[in-house]
Amino acid sequence: MEKFERFLEANLPSSPSFHPHYEEALRVMLQAGGKRFRPALLLGVVEAYNPLLVESAYHAALAVEVLHTYSLIHDDLPAMDNSPLRRGKPTLHVLYDEVTAILVGDALNTYAFEILSQAPFGAKTKVELVRLLATNGGVNGMVLGQAIDCHFENTPLQIEQIRILHTNKTAKLIAASLAMGAEIVGKKGLKEELYSFGIDLGVLFQIQDDLLDVTQSSEEAGKLTNNDGEKNSFVTILGYDKAYEEAEVLAKKLTKQMEEVAPNLQQKLNPLLHKYINRHKG
Ligand code: IPE
Ligand code: IPE
Ligand code: MG
Ligand code: MG
Ligand code: MG
Repeated sequence: MEKFERFLEANLPSSPSFHPHYEEALRVMLQAGGKRFRPALLLGVVEAYNPLLVESAYHAALAVEVLHTYSLIHDDLPAMDNSPLRRGKPTLHVLYDEVTAILVGDALNTYAFEILSQAPFGAKTKVELVRLLATNGGVNGMVLGQAIDCHFENTPLQIEQIRILHTNKTAKLIAASLAMGAEIVGKKGLKEELYSFGIDLGVLFQIQDDLLDVTQSSEEAGKLTNNDGEKNSFVTILGYDKAYEEAEVLAKKLTKQMEEVAPNLQQKLNPLLHKYINRHKG
């Protein structure tokens, strides 16, 4: 991922103006790092099927990471999760002010699509990449999930509703990352197969995040933990042990599925997936 980091550095949003901190604020959360899980998934798929296309896929990988970073900046706002720490750094509304955090989120949301528009692919591929990112990251994806998450604070949901919440707020963008990789390599049927795998992977990722909210310190996580008490999560609704069991069920299902995919995909994605599929085990 080193080369991807260099690509990110070279493609940070830029806005030379007389504003005292707008440009710096646009960049700070992207430069703060994070797991880069979504770009790694996208690039892993491309590498497995067509290593020659990996560099061309950086635009798409960065677009996903930029959109995800916007979602975190807004997620931390006082009106949402009210968190002072993200990626080991003070959040933007703490570093600057709330207006800056809102506007940087807005700017990164559209910047993701500006980057995608510059990807070195034909129009048909690019439109499909835009569609995948927009439909999964927007109205019927991440934003819907966040809307449900915030609206139903302190109102217990049914477990099937929480599954829908997790699917939207987290899993769809993770599934889209895999599907975007499949779109770039153009292998028939792969996009649908990986999208469905990605939904399970994404739900697992959110259950693990909810488990870690209880077990990790803010310092370890680089973000405020023990902050989900009012939320609907597997942990708050089922309790830690049952939520852990749910994670185990998904982890086993995904591990089995990985054993059945093409050997090239196994080889490229296994190290990354092994780490994340077992993340709840600590
Ligand atoms: C955090 O995502 C928000 C969730 C969807 C759980 P990540 O855990 O991928 O955050 P970063 O990118 O590493 O900061
Ligand atoms: C956020 O879920 C998911 C997003 C779409 C950003 P959380 O609120 O649990 O994420 P963290 O724990 O703050 O990273
Ligand atoms: Mg949240
Ligand atoms: Mg949060
Ligand atoms: Mg969380």
